[in-house]
Amino acid sequence: MRPLALSELLLTELQRVDGDASLAPPLNRRLYLSLRGAILAGRITAGVQLPSTRDLARDLDLSRNTVMSAINQLTAEGYLTARQGSGTFVSETLPELGPLSPVRGRRQAQPHGANGSPRELSQRGNLLTAQSGSADFEVQPFAPGAIEFAEFPIQLWQKLQAKYWRSLDRDLLDYGQEGGYMPLRAAIAQYLSLSRSVRVTPEQVLITSGTQQSLDLAARLLTDHGDEAWVENPCYWGARRALQAAGLRLKPIDVDLEGMAPSATDWQLGKPRLIYVTPSHQYPLGHVMSLQRRRALLQFAARQRCWIFEDDYDSEFRFGGRPFASLQGLDEHAQVLYSGTFSKVMYPGIRLGYLVVPTDLLPAFNTGLYDLYRPGQLMLQAALTDFITEGHLNTLIRRLRVAYQARRDELARRIQRCLGDRVQISGQESGLHLCLLFNAPGVDDEAIARAADAQGMTVRPLSRYFLGAPGQRGLILGYAYVPTERVPPWAQKLCQLIRDQLPD
Ligand SMILES: Cc1ncc(COP(=O)(O)O)c(C=O)c1O
Repeated sequence: MRPLALSELLLTELQRVDGDASLAPPLNRRLYLSLRGAILAGRITAGVQLPSTRDLARDLDLSRNTVMSAINQLTAEGYLTARQGSGTFVSETLPELGPLSPVRGRRQAQPHGANGSPRELSQRGNLLTAQSGSADFEVQPFAPGAIEFAEFPIQLWQKLQAKYWRSLDRDLLDYGQEGGYMPLRAAIAQYLSLSRSVRVTPEQVLITSGTQQSLDLAARLLTDHGDEAWVENPCYWGARRALQAAGLRLKPIDVDLEGMAPSATDWQLGKPRLIYVTPSHQYPLGHVMSLQRRRALLQFAARQRCWIFEDDYDSEFRFGGRPFASLQGLDEHAQVLYSGTFSKVMYPGIRLGYLVVPTDLLPAFNTGLYDLYRPGQLMLQAALTDFITEGHLNTLIRRLRVAYQARRDELARRIQRCLGDRVQISGQESGLHLCLLFNAPGVDDEAIARAADAQGMTVRPLSRYFLGAPGQRGLILGYAYVPTERVPPWAQKLCQLIRDQLPD
């Protein structure tokens, strides 16, 4: 693309943003939004060189400071890359969403009207659909997030549900008001206070359709468009999508062995409105947040008057040692919202999760939940209550824990035997996945993932989970889906493939 054509395109983009009355931020922000929107929508493609800031300022009739401010922000966020001596280019890798080059099954088809003419999505729509993190729906060996269904007691589950359908309790056919089915909320409150040290009353537990909805609700009610949210870097893509959809500016915060690790400047000057964390099992690296870091984060949140969203998505599957209590349990200022899900312990399609909300926020959250999503599924919630109170959930978790631990042990052993000190395994103390880190720099984890896919395995490149330039390269491997006896042949295939790609 010639530099002038790019300036012309940006002028059009700027007019598009200008035309939206709800977006009337300062000029540098408008330029930032235009340029980012065009990159995300693929109107300006990876590798394209931007004109100099001086030329851009002249062509767009803006001050050079305005242009530099937008370019600097996009560079810091990883949309643009500055190459010393040669200029600024559109990055090869999108910061939030992965590679710009098309990956099978990822890019959405552009919508077309009845007469075949292309139609435009909103900027928000483009941002959300330019690349979907949920791309690889195919469940193949090592697919992170895939779980074992064979252990699930289907007949028992059918029986419990049938009981409520037979009961003809018509109240259960209604919308779920006031936060969901109260006996379920009470069962969850009891479970959380015993097993996760969450400080909770049944009234504080809201039944949602899972973490995604819990996060969406919290972001909508507690933050405004353009507010800053801190996310771990690398971060769970689902959380990023929900926060982006709420219009938040994501600030990536590095992760070390003690969990989310804000810099000294972040601690001193940071002003997030919301902080999203996975302290029990950082997703995807798997580190557990240290007690010291938990305290520091809580103190910071109290001082800055911001909210913490604690995503405790898989702590039921802890294989060794005692699990850390929840972050919420340490909170003295009622600033943590604690979220859990039945996606991992039951099955993802159940779409049931819970959000523990500080008492003073309850009226707002009850209204928000009801008005925004019209929750229901009370029959299902009633059956789940029995599943928990009759002890079936604990039995299932115990069975799954044994099965998953055996699968993890087998996979880790095979990897260590085959790849030795060329890799490190992180985050294997709990959960359903492990993270394989390459010790050599610059390994192309995307290429390994593509090669694995071609051989019938789904592994996720770690670089895809970073906002901005990837700090580490590796692979996320889910082991929950592969029976122990099937692990050796698949692990051998995978290790062989990795060995071929690693430098000697
Ligand atoms: C970090 C994290 N949080 C939450 C979830 C579950 O989300 P949901 O409850 O919306 O199914 C997942 C699922 O993979 C996850 O990886």
